[in-house]
Amino acid sequence: MQGFKHWQLQRDADGLAWATLDAADGSANTLGREVMEELGGLLDQLDREPPKGLVIRSGKAAGFIAGANIEEFTKIATVDDAKVLVKRGWDLFNRLAAVKYPTLALVRGHCMGGGLELALACRYRVAVDEPGTKMALPEVMLGIVPGWGGMLRLPEVVGPAAAMDMMLTGKNIDAKRARKMGLADECVPPRVMENTARMVVLSARPRRELPFMQKLMLGPLKGIVANGAKKQVAKRARPEHYPAPYAIIDIWSKFGGNALAVPANDPASLESVFGSATAKNLIRVFFLQDRLKAFGKDSDFAPKHVHVIGAGVMGGDIAAVCAAKGMTVTLQDQSVERIAPAIKRAAEFYAKRYRGDKKQVRFALDRLIADPQGAGVAQADVIIEAIFENLEVKQKVFADVEARAKPDAVIATNTSSLKLEDIAATFRNPSRLVGIHFFNPVPKMPLVEVVTAENSDADAAKKAAAFVRKIDKLPLPVKSAPGFLVNAVLGPYLLEAMRCVDEGIAPEAVDAAALAFGMPMGPIELADTVGLDIAMAAGKGLTGAAEPPKKLAELMAAGNLGKKSGKGFYTWVNGKPQKSQASAPSGLADRLVKPLLDATQRCVNQGVVGDADLADAGVIFGTGFAPFRGGPMNYLKNKAA
Ligand code: NAI
Repeated sequence: MQGFKHWQLQRDADGLAWATLDAADGSANTLGREVMEELGGLLDQLDREPPKGLVIRSGKAAGFIAGANIEEFTKIATVDDAKVLVKRGWDLFNRLAAVKYPTLALVRGHCMGGGLELALACRYRVAVDEPGTKMALPEVMLGIVPGWGGMLRLPEVVGPAAAMDMMLTGKNIDAKRARKMGLADECVPPRVMENTARMVVLSARPRRELPFMQKLMLGPLKGIVANGAKKQVAKRARPEHYPAPYAIIDIWSKFGGNALAVPANDPASLESVFGSATAKNLIRVFFLQDRLKAFGKDSDFAPKHVHVIGAGVMGGDIAAVCAAKGMTVTLQDQSVERIAPAIKRAAEFYAKRYRGDKKQVRFALDRLIADPQGAGVAQADVIIEAIFENLEVKQKVFADVEARAKPDAVIATNTSSLKLEDIAATFRNPSRLVGIHFFNPVPKMPLVEVVTAENSDADAAKKAAAFVRKIDKLPLPVKSAPGFLVNAVLGPYLLEAMRCVDEGIAPEAVDAAALAFGMPMGPIELADTVGLDIAMAAGKGLTGAAEPPKKLAELMAAGNLGKKSGKGFYTWVNGKPQKSQASAPSGLADRLVKPLLDATQRCVNQGVVGDADLADAGVIFGTGFAPFRGGPMNYLKNKAA
């Protein structure tokens, strides 16, 4: 008996077996080869002496199971390797699902991917009601499919509509929601979780019946559901860019949820999915994201109070996001009247974020304090300046900040185009200033550039990165250089797009070419969205072009600033650009992205970012650059190969 490295098996006086997964090699449980083999061995032991029931739980504080071991994915060299990996989980979880005794997954904390597929193979699931408890099948985000029974069992447990939604978006489901939709049989607080698990696993209660319509969708209406789901997916992803969501729908509707049953020449096959560059690149992006998440880890900085100066587009939203993350925020501007619109916007943001939970909205708003006098400077752990782009005014503001800030507070500017060195020139200690450069819209954009100059204090930069992680954004260290990384790369790309328009190519055709390449939004629509005044100002400093594009200058002269004024390259109605049909001329996409690729390469050569991988991470998370291409440097490398 026993003898496992990652699992503990205990039997209690009631005849129940408790299997606790506590993977030996990390702070979170993942389902690597060894862990899976041991689970097989554990089932062998239980076969020899069947328990009255089996409860599977985690020994980790971090959560239940984070998913498959993604490191192992990167070692997949051939399609046969991929098949072995899929078959291992498919067979093992089928075996778990078929045992004669009742089984239960006690889910506390994250339960993702393969972890949820394991839980789905159990007869029952108890979800522990804690903020960290979330269940998801996020495989689609890695360009692959939930091949260990998720595509078979999730639709049976929650019905095809909800299952498709989960599998095609990868979204997280919390404990309460899981209970409501039938993914969990119970949702309980931690103090009663073991007792509940014991009761439920021994209850012999039948599985929850699916509503009538959902049952029909599992049977005769399957094809209709599949077609509907494909139409939904087509709005967001093209099959040639993202094959996995289409494969998930087909594997469920045509192959009984069994990825191994799909013939090799079918687009839904493991050959097609795992063999695609998309899967390789999205797995790469996953690791790039992990790399960004690691910045600031070596600092124990735990900021509680943030002071933001400037309650405009950026400052207002930076303040709102920090307060949403539990920090006390004082928000300073020239008058209360200038702060009020930011607070109003924050209230709207919280109402959406907390989906009508008035208490949470109240708490977040209570943490966001209007501070026209700037009293918060003296207490703050992080001070972020986001006022007009004017050097003298910024210097004046910082003179006061430096005099009153705590000695260990981080002092930062959100400037896009001024030199850090120039702003710091009037500091008593210029090494204190760092850049914390957010992107617009702040709540949506995952990346934040952490900017340092030659003489910036390394510790301040580390603390700044730690702060960025605390608000759940991805910090990218960059050197002080015009446009840092993201704008330096976007500028030439937008300029080229506008040159195309000057040459008589329809804005719609330019945008269509970029979308066909895989950009989330065309460059002309992007310029209109950001605001043509901002694009113009950025362009001046970044592209080195002597003349602004003609059409841009004309629009500006007529006061047409894009989305915010209702007219730019497009006419905007109800927040949407009015576009006529256009197809992309061949070769246009290559022409458009070339300046972006060149600029990224230049930033790497000049050391603006640490290395090519970080440049890829920055451009993907800062501009939305087609993730399935793995980043501009990766794209260049593959093109050359
Ligand atoms: P904004 O014009 O929307 O807001 C600036 C705010 O600063 C105004 O509310 C103004 O009253 C306030 N302000 C001016 N002088 C002040 C002073 N002495 N004391 C207190 N408050 C003062 O500007 P926005 O767009 O929010 O930009 C702010 C900073 O963020 C700039 O440095 C800009 O380069 C940078 N940035 C802007 C981005 C954007 O897309 N708008 C993106 C990233 C950075």
